[in-house]
Amino acid sequence: MAKGFYISKNMGLAGLLMGAVAVVIIIALAAVYDKEKTKNQNKPVDGVAMLTTASPTTSSTLSTPKDPWEHYRLPDSLSPVSYNITLWPRLVVNASTGLYIFTGQSAVVFQCKKDTDLIVIHCNKLNLTLLNGHHARLTGLDGATAPTVKTSWLQVKTEYLVIQLNGKLTAGKSYRLSTDFQGELADDLKGFYRSEYTEDGGKKVVATSQMQATFARKAFPCFDEPAMKAVFHITLIHQRGTVALSNGRDTVNSTIDGTEVTMTRFEPTKRMSTYLLAFIVSDFDHITGSIENNNVLVRIWARRKAIAEGHGNYALNVTGPMLNFFERYYNASYPLSKSDQIALPDFNAGAMENWGLITYRETALLYDPAISSVGNKERVLTVVAHELAHMWFGNLVTLRWWNDLWLNEGFASYVEYLGADYAEPTWNIKEQTILNDVHKVFAVDALASSHPLSRKEEEVNQPDEISEMFNTISYSKGAAVLRMLSEFLTEPVFARGLSYINQRTHCECSYSILTRGLTAVLTTPGMSLPHTVHDIMNRWILQMGFPVVTIDTATGHITQKHFLLDPDSVVDRPSPYNYTWLVPIKWMKGGVEREQHWLLQETGISNATGSEWVLANLNVSGYYRVNYDMDNWERLLNQLTTDHTVIPLINRAQIVDDAFNLARAKVINTTLALRTTRYLSQERDYIPWESALRNLNYYILMFDRGQAYGVLQGYLKMQITPLFEYFRTITVDWTRVPTGHNDQYNQINAISFACRMGVERCRVLTSDWFREWMLNPDHNPIHPNLKTTVYCNAIAAGGVAEWDFAWQMFKNATVATEAAKLRSSLACTKVPWLLNRTTSSCVLLKKRSGFLKQFKEDNARVGFGSGTLALEQAIERTTANIKWVAENQEPVMKWLANECT
Ligand SMILES: *[C@@H]1O[C@H](CO)[C@@H](O)[C@H](O)[C@H]1NC(C)=O
Ligand SMILES: *[C@@H]1O[C@H](CO)[C@@H](O)[C@H](O)[C@H]1NC(C)=O
Ligand SMILES: *[C@@H]1O[C@H](CO)[C@@H](O)[C@H](O)[C@H]1NC(C)=O
Ligand SMILES: *[C@@H]1O[C@H](CO)[C@@H](O)[C@H](O)[C@H]1NC(C)=O
Ligand SMILES: *[C@@H]1O[C@H](CO)[C@@H](O)[C@H](O)[C@H]1NC(C)=O
Ligand SMILES: *[C@@H]1O[C@H](CO)[C@@H](O)[C@H](O)[C@H]1NC(C)=O
Ligand SMILES: *[C@@H]1O[C@H](CO)[C@@H](O)[C@H](O)[C@H]1NC(C)=O
Ligand SMILES: *[C@@H]1O[C@H](CO)[C@@H](O)[C@H](O)[C@H]1NC(C)=O
Ligand SMILES: [Zn+2]
Repeated sequence: MAKGFYISKNMGLAGLLMGAVAVVIIIALAAVYDKEKTKNQNKPVDGVAMLTTASPTTSSTLSTPKDPWEHYRLPDSLSPVSYNITLWPRLVVNASTGLYIFTGQSAVVFQCKKDTDLIVIHCNKLNLTLLNGHHARLTGLDGATAPTVKTSWLQVKTEYLVIQLNGKLTAGKSYRLSTDFQGELADDLKGFYRSEYTEDGGKKVVATSQMQATFARKAFPCFDEPAMKAVFHITLIHQRGTVALSNGRDTVNSTIDGTEVTMTRFEPTKRMSTYLLAFIVSDFDHITGSIENNNVLVRIWARRKAIAEGHGNYALNVTGPMLNFFERYYNASYPLSKSDQIALPDFNAGAMENWGLITYRETALLYDPAISSVGNKERVLTVVAHELAHMWFGNLVTLRWWNDLWLNEGFASYVEYLGADYAEPTWNIKEQTILNDVHKVFAVDALASSHPLSRKEEEVNQPDEISEMFNTISYSKGAAVLRMLSEFLTEPVFARGLSYINQRTHCECSYSILTRGLTAVLTTPGMSLPHTVHDIMNRWILQMGFPVVTIDTATGHITQKHFLLDPDSVVDRPSPYNYTWLVPIKWMKGGVEREQHWLLQETGISNATGSEWVLANLNVSGYYRVNYDMDNWERLLNQLTTDHTVIPLINRAQIVDDAFNLARAKVINTTLALRTTRYLSQERDYIPWESALRNLNYYILMFDRGQAYGVLQGYLKMQITPLFEYFRTITVDWTRVPTGHNDQYNQINAISFACRMGVERCRVLTSDWFREWMLNPDHNPIHPNLKTTVYCNAIAAGGVAEWDFAWQMFKNATVATEAAKLRSSLACTKVPWLLNRTTSSCVLLKKRSGFLKQFKEDNARVGFGSGTLALEQAIERTTANIKWVAENQEPVMKWLANECT
């Protein structure tokens, strides 16, 4: 995501052009109908679609069940060594069952660790062929005698095949368990599944897989836990003319006499976890590259047409440099002999880091310069960086259990910026972490209902509890906290700790490997910290939330307090550290950086007093908010209006975001928050503007149609106009697109916000562009970056003709992203009966696209429990909003009225 956020970037503001009614419709459309968008926003990246709210997990087991097969965790008596798997997916409907199916054989060699007469192995939705009357055949290896099978059955609830034996397996001996099975190649996006698409007018079927977190058991019987690593010998049988891919390189293709099939065998994998396996059969095409100074094979796979049109080229261009970068960063060469990346028409998450065969949603891997926006391109870059980062950390070094998922995902979400920055050094992409991760997760982590990064192993058992771990806290707080660690240790020291960890490839670790690794490195002279890395990090990892640090520049006193967005909320989750943190404080005074300070108990920084402004949390490298005494706020505001460039870019975004959130939490006066936006008339950079717009959106939504709206709009129009004019100038009267990456985003913001605030030149600009297109439908003059906002504004300002044209173009659109932009713009109309048409047209479309099934699936995944929670949160939020408007309308209006005169 990476990661699914680009949509909000481009569409967030456009969306707000609409009145409350349209907003409701759009929310409904986005949630229910728009499969593509929902998926994108849900996540980033790997494996499991991400939950966007933090929901508490309740432990699944009230009383401890008696029998091993009733536990969701495998017993520790058996340990897999290797598997030999042959799978044969059929890409046409099976005549007897009416289903798409696959058949398979699997044999797992395992070692017995403790004497036992029981075999418990994962198996879900597979029809096993009976072998001598039982579900599996057991053989002793190296002279061991296998006991006979007493009875075997499938334990559906816990997803096991259970085999009771007539005698005991002996510790230290090895055995082989063989199964034959048939499964459905369903379109459920889980395990071994099918993806369909149309090309050259015909339907095509791809067999592909998604194992994370607990779906490998739906492809073949296996010990399906991340620590149960083994070597996999994989063979795929497939129709001639199709190509088979898996984690390793293919070594043998053979044809089977008398049939239309080919058998492709792959090199044995490295020792790896089941959740990282991948099997794909398709008729896709590919392009090839390689890594510099290395004979690793690099390929990008996609639909034939997409490859022919060059849509894989950008991903291929950036993969080589990024792999080179990560090899240096981890100080370890790429662990495999090849790197395949494939774009799939149907894919649940954003992408999945299968070792050596990464799977992506098409929008996360394919890039078409003719129609893709700057956000589309950035998404490809960051998702590829994220997944490649996992090829070492996550895949080579794997966390023992899902409770530590945050380390795997937080880590990849942090280093993706480093890899992306290496591949696109002019984009300044690292700056965006503050918007995409820090501010985003602050919003969730400031609630009393948040939860710590790490959970206890025994709290995470069932598949549902595992998928709940794929949330904003794991990804974004994980990234923010690791970035803080890297910043206070310095990047070279952090990277040395990583290479230490990478040498321990055979440990199935918990998160303490990180602190141990860094402690080992920190014995190097010259590096001193007030506490061990372990002590510092535990406070950020084992307790939820984050502090607000308050600096009183009159006395030099500095204190911390758990920051809660709602000051009346009650925290009922106890913390072993009583909600205090060891806070690294990088700060500056009067524009000069001072020595880092560590805060635990209230202390003083004597140098923080005086008449010059003090600014703390430089570049927001720490995961906390900052407040000051009123005099220092005044000095900072004064500096912003006199020369804002003296304050670092990221801190300008921080000052605004901290102030608005401190005001929400009633720590500071609302008018003080508004005053941080005064300097924006001089601001030209994207990051501070985006930060401000996100916060102002709340005010706009809250005061929409209220008495304060007029003055609010007047003030914001005054603030945005200079930015709009600035872009008019640097684009030579809108004839070109700015060259800077972030400038391109900011141009989108400038146009959408200026139009929304009623800047007349903006209305004329967007309407003229749209009309030009209407006169010549074969030639769209609107740059891909600006389509969303221009369509929406032109339709909002226009009438039936504009709406009808967009409707025609929507029906004619052959490219999914273009269709999505047109569809969302239809709801921007201000003509009430057209708005009705928008909804009813969409209802018709819904039926066609089988959205109901998707809706059900999405909800099944989120679960009844968290659905209820989300509803409760929504009600709570609405109540809070009404209260907020009642309390703030008067002072806000007064302040604005004053500014506008
Ligand atoms: C895997 O099984 C097939 C037959 O099912 C056999 O031919 C092959 O040798 C086995 N490979 C390994 C590595 O055990
Ligand atoms: C598995 O067996 C059940 C019960 O006989 C049957 O309904 C189902 O279609 C079978 N599935 C496959 C994929 O063969
Ligand atoms: C197997 O066949 C595929 C597709 O025809 C080809 O690309 C690949 O090089 C072959 N592999 C071997 C080891 O012959
Ligand atoms: C990929 O790199 C080549 C060679 O540098 C360049 O010509 C091409 O424009 C790049 N393609 C994309 C989509 O960035
Ligand atoms: C925890 O903090 C609260 C208030 O911040 C304080 O009253 C209490 O004594 C602290 N408890 C411990 C065990 O430190
Ligand atoms: C504090 O100020 C004194 C003199 O004013 C200076 O010598 C010292 O280096 C400063 N310390 C820090 C941490 O900036
Ligand atoms: C906020 O500040 C303004 C002027 O600075 C003042 O008039 C108002 O009373 C303050 N409101 C609160 C709630 O402190
Ligand atoms: C839509 O496509 C049809 C058939 O390709 C074409 O006749 C029609 O002119 C197109 N409409 C527009 C508005 O481009
Ligand atoms: Zn990931």
